[in-house]
Amino acid sequence: MSFKTLDDIGDVTGKAVLVREDLNVPMADGLVTDDTRLRATVATLNELSDKGAKVLVLAHFGRPKGEPSEEFSLRKLAAPLSQVLGRPVSFIDWEGDKEAVAALKAGDIAILENTRFFGGEEKNDPAVIERFASLGDFYVNDAFSAAHRAHASTEGLAHVLPAFAGRAMEAELTALEKALGKPEHPVAAVVGGAKVSTKLDVLKHLVGKVDHLIIGGGMANTFLAARGVAVGKSLCEHDLTATADEILDNADKAGCTVHLPYDVVVSKEFAANPASLRTCNVHEVAADEMILDVGPTAVEALADVLKTCKTLVWNGPMGAFETEPFDAATVALARTAAALTKEGSLVSVAGGGDTVAALNHAGVGGDFSYVSTAGGAFLEWMEGKELPGVAALVA
Ligand code: 3PG
Repeated sequence: MSFKTLDDIGDVTGKAVLVREDLNVPMADGLVTDDTRLRATVATLNELSDKGAKVLVLAHFGRPKGEPSEEFSLRKLAAPLSQVLGRPVSFIDWEGDKEAVAALKAGDIAILENTRFFGGEEKNDPAVIERFASLGDFYVNDAFSAAHRAHASTEGLAHVLPAFAGRAMEAELTALEKALGKPEHPVAAVVGGAKVSTKLDVLKHLVGKVDHLIIGGGMANTFLAARGVAVGKSLCEHDLTATADEILDNADKAGCTVHLPYDVVVSKEFAANPASLRTCNVHEVAADEMILDVGPTAVEALADVLKTCKTLVWNGPMGAFETEPFDAATVALARTAAALTKEGSLVSVAGGGDTVAALNHAGVGGDFSYVSTAGGAFLEWMEGKELPGVAALVA
């Protein structure tokens, strides 16, 4: 995969550079509750500012659907971004934006108002692309986590201005290429989470790419049911057992070993440390019990599988990890993967909403080779889909 980076942008002194970032951060009571995405912007924004560019940050916030409102305004992110960057950041409204941009000096950084205040942003409307393009000389896309959207600011602009990948985008694409593009085999994938229905395309794609597919979380129950295991009261999509069967058959044909738990942690109620907690073989789950985590014997066997692998992609927790002790399998396997990564024997890449929280809970978020900040984009990438924002940079 070849694309231009900031190394190729040349002299930007005094030039206006439109940088698409993902500032769609979680907030509560007016405060940013997780600044991971803000921190991801630092390398690109400060480098361009240091090079003397007028840095114009383009981003969306929430889903205002073309309706400007204070609730979805990006004004409130200027101060937190400034704090993370360690330099001033101003805010530019869509009214009077041309004059405000013209008044910027070399090295200044400004956030433009929410791109989704234009209905045409999400339609990739040429008029909106032109509106944005008229403000800048160059376009830098640094928002992998929004690259699954073919919007004016994520895709369209790349066709009308000289386009480059920002540092965060570059790091993301390099890591993802290593994990599934041209990985070193054997490759293992851990796919967990509550429902098979949300990750069918991921599973279908992975069986043709990886050597070991480790299925955990609630979705493993549907696969166990497909294999004729009685899963009691467990979360299970019984209407998808035929699809699960098909995935298992395809894995077989492709030479991919699918690992389902053979011992499990069960309980009659879903609560922290419940009285009815026990560990049993998957064939011994009672009708009034539910599976809430992978058992310790299976986790040990899975750790042995990881020890034979060179590459790992991880998406989704192995059990109901937010509630103790159903975090045990996720924590143990994540720590094994982190230890193997530190030793240098495994390249480990993880991503997707719950996954980052699960790895942080295990205390190993910083020990994987790469942890993606993307949610939907990471899943689409795991499905093998071409992301429009990336395709436009690579073209
Ligand atoms: C995200 O939060 O995953 C990205 O910013 C994309 O947001 P969207 O799902 O509203 O397009």
